[in-house]
Amino acid sequence: MARKQDVYLIDDLERHASVVLPKMVRDYFNGGALDGCSLRANRTAYQRYHIRPRALRNVKDLQTQIKVFPDGNSIPFPCAVAPAAMQKMAHPDGEEATARACGGYGTVMGLSTYSTTSLDEVKKAADAARHTTGLKGPSELVLQVYVFEDRSVTEQLIHRAEACGYKAIVLTVDTPQFGRRLTEIRNGFKLPPHLKMANFPDELGVKTGSELRTGDLEAGKRRTLSASGSTANKLDPSLTWDILPWLKSLTRLPIWLKGIMGAEDAILSVQHGADAIFVSNHGGRQLDQAPPTLDVLPGIVKAVGGKVPIHFDGGVRRGSDIFKALCLGADMVWIGRPVLWGLAYDGEYGVINALRILEDEFKECMMLSGCSQLDELGPHLLVEANHKFSKI
Ligand SMILES: Cc1cc2nc3c(=O)[nH]c(=O)nc-3n(C[C@H](O)[C@H](O)[C@H](O)COP(=O)(O)O)c2cc1C
Repeated sequence: MARKQDVYLIDDLERHASVVLPKMVRDYFNGGALDGCSLRANRTAYQRYHIRPRALRNVKDLQTQIKVFPDGNSIPFPCAVAPAAMQKMAHPDGEEATARACGGYGTVMGLSTYSTTSLDEVKKAADAARHTTGLKGPSELVLQVYVFEDRSVTEQLIHRAEACGYKAIVLTVDTPQFGRRLTEIRNGFKLPPHLKMANFPDELGVKTGSELRTGDLEAGKRRTLSASGSTANKLDPSLTWDILPWLKSLTRLPIWLKGIMGAEDAILSVQHGADAIFVSNHGGRQLDQAPPTLDVLPGIVKAVGGKVPIHFDGGVRRGSDIFKALCLGADMVWIGRPVLWGLAYDGEYGVINALRILEDEFKECMMLSGCSQLDELGPHLLVEANHKFSKI
């Protein structure tokens, strides 16, 4: 097991997490759909680009701060925490620890609908940590939602999020049903009985681990009723683009669409009023054989033409990965599994560790490629790996 001081890379957090987590949880966090093709491709895509070093460009004063919301806080660098379900399986403090880490670090946290801590408690924890660190203003969180067959459940979640100060609603659109994750099926994965899906009121029947097999949510028995027979958490596979006006009629919060993987859907997102799009293949957990997110990014950026911000995730494990995604046109980059590994390693401090590692690496990349401002980043700084550098 890695000693705490032996963590220098996100890989170290992953290695540590793989030792401390029970197999069922490790497989749930780390796995992808079916053969894991998209999961692996997300990672290898970054290797297709090298970064051009530049010399003598005065990089003494780096400016890496960015605002995710025009009226909001500056975050330290363009990286935030993606929504990931059931974080109390990684650490007893779960989403509350992630919220404290993000609040104190000053970055944005995405909370999953399938959180094991309620969205109100998560917001309180993030605000308190922000206050303790001496950062001004409230914390910034976004709530990820699915639209369930019983739409009133989604509606209530959105109203609660708006009431307690969340800054955006992130509708995950890559999930008419959950991807087929073989390790979860083989392991008979289910939420441990002492944990619960904390955003659902008990009377909806989405109660405790013993009653709720995540097979109903995330794996084998896709699109089935929850174990108690409720439709409260039954995904609605009949959704179309008309869902956007419905969502917009419920809230004044911006609506982002997460899981956009091509120019056609990016254009439709803009046409239907999305306030931002989120390029994501759900960390390779939905359509196996979907391309890596880095590969679809440039086409989406071109199609969107700056009309809405572009968020991005998938396989980000290095500051250089963030740098490459920004060079290819992403406005913000999000991390999923590194946070879960950080949580498993050391709760709140492990998540801070993950953010710190990525921020340091990202800043180093900026300096060594001769950039002191984010707006200097662009495709001209990347070299395709099979090109001869001398020709560029
Ligand atoms: C264990 C786990 C649970 C996740 N749960 C959700 C979820 O509830 N909702 C959602 O939109 N995305 C979910 N995601 C996807 C992440 O938001 C994100 O898109 C993905 O993890 C990014 O890839 P990365 O893990 O390689 O950084 C989950 C990912 C993981 C690994």
